Amino acid sequence: MSQVERVGISLPPELLESFDKLIEERGYPNRSEAVRDLIRAELDRQQVKNQKAVAVAAVCIVYDHHSTQLMQKLTALQHNRLLETICSMHIHLDKHNCLEIIVLKGTVGQINKTAESLISQKGVKLGRTNLIST
Ligand code: NI
Repeated sequence: MSQVERVGISLPPELLESFDKLIEERGYPNRSEAVRDLIRAELDRQQVKNQKAVAVAAVCIVYDHHSTQLMQKLTALQHNRLLETICSMHIHLDKHNCLEIIVLKGTVGQINKTAESLISQKGVKLGRTNLIST
């Protein structure tokens, strides 16, 4: 941190007590670090609402590898959008299920479109996208 500015805020005692309990549970060393993280998280949430903002995302999908053509479709979808795909990781969960984590980079709009086309494939049981603005 190159430069910081000190600010004072007023809080009702009950709110401060709840906040202190929360930051202790999460392991924050002090209130300042916790408040900084809360502000960054809220700014990030705002940023990823903008479809044109640049972001990275981890798309996690769970699917049955016996599903017809699913693995080929998933690979083709990633190749067709090569510029947005940074990497992917495949984990064999059990006899039937696989977890694929695909990291995408691009605008929020592009990422959501790609993620939705991955998650909506037949055979995908569960899909989740976690976006972070860059
Ligand atoms: Ni597998």
